[in-house]
Amino acid sequence: MQSTHSPQFQQLLQQHQLASFEQLWNYQGDWFEPPNRERGGWSGVNYIELADEAGVKHGFYLKRQQAHMRRTWQYPIAGEPTFVREFEILQHLSKHHVATPTLVFFGSQQDKAILLTEALTGFLAADEWLKNHSNISISQQNGLMQALADAVRNLHHAGVQHRSLYLKHLFVKENNADINDSGFEVAAIDFEKSRITVLIKWFRFSDLITLHYRTADLRASNKLAFFKQYFAIQHLTPFYKALCRYLHQQSLQKRR
Ligand SMILES: Nc1ncnc2c1ncn2[C@@H]1O[C@H](COP(=O)(O)OP(=O)(O)O)[C@@H](O)[C@H]1O
Ligand SMILES: [Mg+2]
Repeated sequence: MQSTHSPQFQQLLQQHQLASFEQLWNYQGDWFEPPNRERGGWSGVNYIELADEAGVKHGFYLKRQQAHMRRTWQYPIAGEPTFVREFEILQHLSKHHVATPTLVFFGSQQDKAILLTEALTGFLAADEWLKNHSNISISQQNGLMQALADAVRNLHHAGVQHRSLYLKHLFVKENNADINDSGFEVAAIDFEKSRITVLIKWFRFSDLITLHYRTADLRASNKLAFFKQYFAIQHLTPFYKALCRYLHQQSLQKRR
């Protein structure tokens, strides 16, 4: 059994009888994402809003899973819940100052696991954001691509391969351009499948291909802006041209 919580929200959770593994496990409320059932196990997400003593509401995402195991060196037979990995990656990324949701509670007991994070308020998933802002200016498009590319690069610099890098897992918030010159903040979520690897220089391409393949509706100029920012280059040299063409072709093959 393993459990940890952030002291910041301890009182609030206690106030709402949601501070222990049992209490969180037995939480009943609407599903944000109904449980997906696989191989005898399940995993589901709830959005929870809790008011503090001053009446201010705080949003959280509660992820619960049972019998979603991954075999590891330590647990080669029974495996361990996949949220253990997500918990470790969240801790690793916060040490490396990569923007992610704040971890509020993590606990595992046998084949059950709970992961509670603070909701990213003011953020929207990048795919939703783009759907709601189809008429943005070229400079806003470039700003967004710059912010997305920086976020993905930071993730990779921290040695993390995301392994489900879709726009729905990159959250976007508009801010004043003077705070950060792109005009956007980006935070990544959902690290259940992620891994920390010393071979990130190689495996990052797989993330880029996934992202590219899932963003079929992005303009070619946006994709180019993303790559230039990600690779920190001003112009496409023959090397980068070949690399971008390779990534593009790989993403087309994946789409088939
Ligand atoms: N901390 C968070 N802030 C905002 N949205 C979140 C947060 N955690 C989860 N979500 C929302 O819940 C959805 C499911 O969470 P995710 O971590 O992707 O779990 P799953 O493994 O079930 O896909 C996400 O796509 C996102 O919309
Ligand atoms: Mg997800």
